[in-house]
Amino acid sequence: MTVDLLLGLQWGDEGKGKIVDVLTSSYDIIARFQGGPNAGHTLEFEGNKHVLHTIPSGIFHPNAVNLIGNGVVIDPVIFIQEIENLAPYGINFDEKLLISKKAHLILPTHRLLDAASEASKGKAKIGSTLKGIGPTYMDKTGRNGIRVGDIFASNWDEKYKKLSNKHMEMLKTFEGIIEFNLKEMEEVFLESIEALRKFKMVDSEHYLHQAQKAGKKILAEGAQGSLLDVDFGTYPFVTSSTTTAAGACTGLGIAPNKIKEVFGIFKAYATRVGSGPFPTELFDQDGETMGRVGNEFGATTGRSRRCGWLDLVALKYSIKINGVTQLMMMKGDVLSGFKKIRVCTAYQTSKGLQDYLPYDISDKEIQPVYETLDGWEEDLTQMTDVTQFPKNFLHYIEYLEEALETPIKIVSVGPDRAQTIYR
Ligand code: GDP
Ligand code: IMO
Ligand code: MG
Repeated sequence: MTVDLLLGLQWGDEGKGKIVDVLTSSYDIIARFQGGPNAGHTLEFEGNKHVLHTIPSGIFHPNAVNLIGNGVVIDPVIFIQEIENLAPYGINFDEKLLISKKAHLILPTHRLLDAASEASKGKAKIGSTLKGIGPTYMDKTGRNGIRVGDIFASNWDEKYKKLSNKHMEMLKTFEGIIEFNLKEMEEVFLESIEALRKFKMVDSEHYLHQAQKAGKKILAEGAQGSLLDVDFGTYPFVTSSTTTAAGACTGLGIAPNKIKEVFGIFKAYATRVGSGPFPTELFDQDGETMGRVGNEFGATTGRSRRCGWLDLVALKYSIKINGVTQLMMMKGDVLSGFKKIRVCTAYQTSKGLQDYLPYDISDKEIQPVYETLDGWEEDLTQMTDVTQFPKNFLHYIEYLEEALETPIKIVSVGPDRAQTIYR
């Protein structure tokens, strides 16, 4: 059986959580392949709103198995908190939640290193979520990390102490740039490790191979977005994992020729949280309106998200890198009431017009070149069928499909599960 992929094409927060939840009824397994608690995936249904960080977004469906893949980094403290938040739902985690033994653990000292590194950068900071993501992936690729399976090892205490002590030595180079109480952090961490031991750990690549053989339908859930990819994003203002399609292969052990559909999600405009280049960012009333109407506040950190017009240069790049087969457009409802909608079709740089993302986008002066389309007044949030869409909204969708050479199969018109329209 084949595997489908779902990932964000912008700077994260495109609405992945919502769409994974919507699609889960057609899948047997939902598997997260990278990132960690830097992610905040929001789901809304039956008047309830949930934010998931580590747990895959299929967890509310009765039949799907949710798997946290080897490419994910897990903070046991945040994970256990997420589990506790789900208590009212009476979910049988024994049957519905699996964790790869190869997923790496975020230690309290990883969080301290993240905070110290950011503080030392001053204005040049990445704007990290401070969840310890960068230092944990550094230990993974540096071959010093601790994997979730290690919490059952007879020398677990020793492994933990060794790495934690190493981090404390590293922290000395930052000369008291942050204040912390490691003892308190460790207490909560070690309690959470105890709790984590009760969850089902598997050799997840083997589990997924068996599932494929048995004809199960698998949906791989990405975190962050392609423009935050460690290789292809706006480096160095990126996260530390492979957020693009390749990350599903390394983060789950799925072979590239087993991937069928690649669902690419984008907002009808653009947002970014944290530092880094954002050519179409708005600093005017339009940007303020997008932020207010779109409720653009980070689901993990609560920071306000920067807003701007849709960037087709960046979107085409993401579609290419991921091999996107179908698009899903989110939050079109937020643009209702804008007289004119602008779309960036090229970048004006000192070297002339450019229609692809330059390698040095972080240092370059870029002027977006815009095409302007007519807006629409109608509220979209109660619409249930494409036939109800205003003419100019339909035109926006068709314009984008043509420019992006990819069909837009789902149009989302509100945060709720029900506000989802298939084309
Ligand atoms: P994710 O990280 O990609 O899962 O996205 P987030 O959950 O961080 O951010 C998306 C936000 O937009 C959440 O608050 C969702 O509830 C909300 N949302 C998703 N789709 C829509 C939509 O079509 N319209 C509106 N207005 N809100 C949406
Ligand atoms: P979801 O899955 C939006 C951003 C941070 C920062 C940069 C690096 O909800 O879309 P990190 O903590 O990873 O070292 O931060 O990446 N970032 C996100 N922005 N959505 C996310 O996840 C993000 N995860 C990280 O704001 O700019
Ligand atoms: Mg998010």
